[in-house]
Amino acid sequence: MTQKIAILTGGGDCAGLNSAVKWITKTALDPQLATHRNESFEVIGIKDGWKGLIEVEPEDPASVAKWVEPLDELIVRTWDRYGGTHLGTSRTNPFNPKDDQSERCVANIRGLGLTAIVAIGGEDTLSVAHKLYNLGQKVVGIPKTIDRDLNATDYTLGYDTALNVITEEVDRLRTTAGSHNRIFVVEVMGRHAGWLALEGGQASGAHIILVPEYDFDVGKVADLLRRRREAGVRYDVVVVSEGAKPRGQGEIYLSDKTDGFGHKVLGGIGLSLAKEIERLTGFETRHVVLSHIQRGGHPSARDRLMGRYFGIAAVDLILEEDFGRMVSYRNGQIGSVPLKQAIDKLYLVDTKTQYDVERYNGRRSSLVPKL
Ligand code: F6P
Repeated sequence: MTQKIAILTGGGDCAGLNSAVKWITKTALDPQLATHRNESFEVIGIKDGWKGLIEVEPEDPASVAKWVEPLDELIVRTWDRYGGTHLGTSRTNPFNPKDDQSERCVANIRGLGLTAIVAIGGEDTLSVAHKLYNLGQKVVGIPKTIDRDLNATDYTLGYDTALNVITEEVDRLRTTAGSHNRIFVVEVMGRHAGWLALEGGQASGAHIILVPEYDFDVGKVADLLRRRREAGVRYDVVVVSEGAKPRGQGEIYLSDKTDGFGHKVLGGIGLSLAKEIERLTGFETRHVVLSHIQRGGHPSARDRLMGRYFGIAAVDLILEEDFGRMVSYRNGQIGSVPLKQAIDKLYLVDTKTQYDVERYNGRRSSLVPKL
């Protein structure tokens, strides 16, 4: 029998996706595997995430050429070195209540003769994977998102590269902030999870870190900054998550438009906070939005490695016919969890144990409770 495995990447792109695609392909097409199993394997990429699986017309060669990319060892040989996703991505939701395309999706899976699908994505993409699995489709998932907000895994592809970008960019801002005696507010991504702000802020030595999980008091932010000037510090960096909000106020969005999963694009807190700090303290304050820079660039060593390990494990799940699961990384081990567990709730910063609500920063105690 020939197994035909399709790979797709959905949601926001990030570093590490191409590495995962490479290692799914290499593992599935390993000649040793075919000999050992006495079956042959074929691997294809679906273009632009779930959109490709909806749009493709399996009977029309031109449409297949447009939406399907046959993959082999030679094609994917260098992919792990590149950021983004060579397969393309979209935020298309086949189960969008406004335009449900799930039946078409299932018909196309049959039409293309797919025996398994590997969906590489975050909460949204994997929620579609889970629904398709419930409809009887053979789907496995790989976690990716710079937000690192998926439950049941300690790692999601793209996170490490994004953290490194934040650290590097804040280092750059420090020299100019110091020269000019300025405060810099740096807005980072993360949606409703504060991981990128908290860990990016700590790694880059930000004085103040603001996360979506704890509504901040802007008066207190101003006080903390005033105290630093009094102590003789010439400049400061405030890292704010795009989803953070001042007490009593809501999140700030770039526009009212929503994607297929009902999300609006966050953005704007950096500018409004910078204005407010300057108004309250009189210190010259500028803001920088790191935005999609965090998703770009070459993957870090960690993202290349995790892409490799996750890709290999996804093929293991297929060989074991253990569908409806997402590969995971927990307590230093590669494993797998039911897709449902990964998408049931978001993994967020615990402000009781991981955030100092007095200093608006990381905690100064790891082992002594209540400090
Ligand atoms: O989920 C990843 C992410 O980068 C979020 O941090 C951010 O809020 C969102 O995607 C931005 O989405 P888009 O690329 O559609 O603007």
